[in-house]
Amino acid sequence: FARHAPYIRAINRLKREKNAVILAHNYMTPEIYHGVADVVGDSLQLAIEATKVEAETIVQCGVHFMAETSKILNPAKRVLIPDAQAGCSLAESITPEGIAQMRAKYPGAPVVSYVNTTAAVKAASDICCTSANAAQIVAALPEPTIIMTPDQYLAQNVAKAVPQKNVVWWAGSCIVHEQYTPADLRDFRAYHPGTKIIAHPECPPDVVAEADFSGSTAGMIDFVTREKPAQVMLVTECSMASNIADALPSVEFLGPCNMCPYMKMITLEKILWSLHTGTEEVTVDPALIDNARLAVERMIDLSR
Ligand code: 13P
Ligand code: SF4
Repeated sequence: FARHAPYIRAINRLKREKNAVILAHNYMTPEIYHGVADVVGDSLQLAIEATKVEAETIVQCGVHFMAETSKILNPAKRVLIPDAQAGCSLAESITPEGIAQMRAKYPGAPVVSYVNTTAAVKAASDICCTSANAAQIVAALPEPTIIMTPDQYLAQNVAKAVPQKNVVWWAGSCIVHEQYTPADLRDFRAYHPGTKIIAHPECPPDVVAEADFSGSTAGMIDFVTREKPAQVMLVTECSMASNIADALPSVEFLGPCNMCPYMKMITLEKILWSLHTGTEEVTVDPALIDNARLAVERMIDLSR
């Protein structure tokens, strides 16, 4: 942490001077997560927290769709992202035209879009979901057939959890979680018997089936904090284990992890530059923002 200290001090000072708060996703590196974040959480928690921000500026330490969601929910605030290139393979996989294709194929079926989407896709959807509430939202909708976009694996995991619904999906995937295979988890268990394996629901269903628990990033942190397994494998992005390991000295974090190249674009240096220069400011097309907000607010209302 020593080499990060000057940046951490400078960022925290500038944050106060500029009346800014930092909302950081659970996949941020430990120096961001512990050193400069005011709020940490999964996508749902960060969206809810964005609605409560009173400071003038939000610096979103996460990927672009997360910053857009903050702007959609709290449009009077200036929302900055330290690197505007921090995208997401899921958000890139679908456009409003894709939503229109799905609606034409399944007339009358509501569209549930993962928050890992652009504002334009949210505006074209009926309701959003995150990995924390996807099954709850699909179960609560009255229609028998539900379109889920853009994560095929989240949709397939929800389809298993909510068998009374006919869930259909778009073929997007997360480049971090699609890399895991059931054989990886089985082999790991064979070498490390007794290890608790917990997987994010963006993993394919045959991977989730090999795990002891599946949940959003916050759900995974809650599970490990509550159960304190002697050994655990987090089937997700690498920073998750790094961020919680110090607070859980009795837990041994094992196993391979995968990096999200987009999340890792956010660094202390870029956060400092962002606060200093006011870049990159995130804007949302005024023609889209109200419909996008409706889709996100419906999700927040339904998941209370
Ligand atoms: P969570 O909502 O579970 O934090 O997931 C966001 C994400 O991008 C995971 O890859
Ligand atoms: Fe997108 Fe996957 Fe990275 Fe999450 S981990 S931001 S879903 S690419």
